[in-house]
Amino acid sequence: MPIHLPPLSRRDFLVRSLLAGAGATLGSRLFAAEKPADPHSWALLSDTHIDASRAKAMRDVNMADNLIAVSKELAALPQRPANVLVNGDCAVLRGEPGDYATFVELLKPIREMGAPVHLTLGNHDEREHFWAGIAGTKAAKRPVEDKHAALVRSERANWFLLDSLDKVNVTPGVLGAAQLKWLGDALDANADKPAIIVAHHNHAEAEHKGGLMDSDALFAVLAPRKQVKAYIFGHTHNWRTLRHESGIHLVNLPPVAYVFRPTRPNGWVQAWLQPDGMKLKLNALDPKHPEHGQTVELNWRS
Ligand SMILES: [Fe+2]
Repeated sequence: MPIHLPPLSRRDFLVRSLLAGAGATLGSRLFAAEKPADPHSWALLSDTHIDASRAKAMRDVNMADNLIAVSKELAALPQRPANVLVNGDCAVLRGEPGDYATFVELLKPIREMGAPVHLTLGNHDEREHFWAGIAGTKAAKRPVEDKHAALVRSERANWFLLDSLDKVNVTPGVLGAAQLKWLGDALDANADKPAIIVAHHNHAEAEHKGGLMDSDALFAVLAPRKQVKAYIFGHTHNWRTLRHESGIHLVNLPPVAYVFRPTRPNGWVQAWLQPDGMKLKLNALDPKHPEHGQTVELNWRS
């Protein structure tokens, strides 16, 4: 069973909303809960950097407000994505227990839409606090012991979610031999569909030295397995798409939280799987950002 935060049922939602006296907002949110899912669509979020305090701001950005804004955008979609991903750096800096308590609270509206939320770990997360703070994840059967990795199957692709957290609040990441061995074996056992690989850290490249330390070992696993079509990462807080020399697409998700360079957009990406590729659309939090609404068509390598 993949490790994720399951959707909250409409009944649970109703009971909790009534207990919370949220009758005034019930109508619009029920409408969101009733929307049909697009089975081929994923909402891709990264780098939420949630602090225990919802008032916490960094680089002039209130991180809780940004995640709330994204959850409202998701609720406003005419058709909801079947799956939601948060690709690491869920917590602000050191992955404190209170950060995850607030993070889980802020994810509730998304889960009430009926979407499971899949999570990976970044360098600002703490694995034991994450497992303790997110019900069910510690006890879940994991394919790699002591790593938060999972295989999520969908109709048009298999998603391999990897754990690249090395040391908390230290920038570079690592997958490790055991996880790479599982990945290779799992790819071989599931070669019938396109594979999308997801981890927090960027592949090794000259521009970003704080990425995946065993990037070469990862791509030695990925490149010869032709079912691997894309590698999705966050970490650099910079939206862009690139292509590895093997033809594997490299998708750098924007942060939900703050950007490192003021001209870059923060926000989230909606993905639609197609039979032979994937379409991406950037939803910048600033609707005036020149890249807001940008779409990118990725064609799968053969
Ligand atoms: Fe980050």
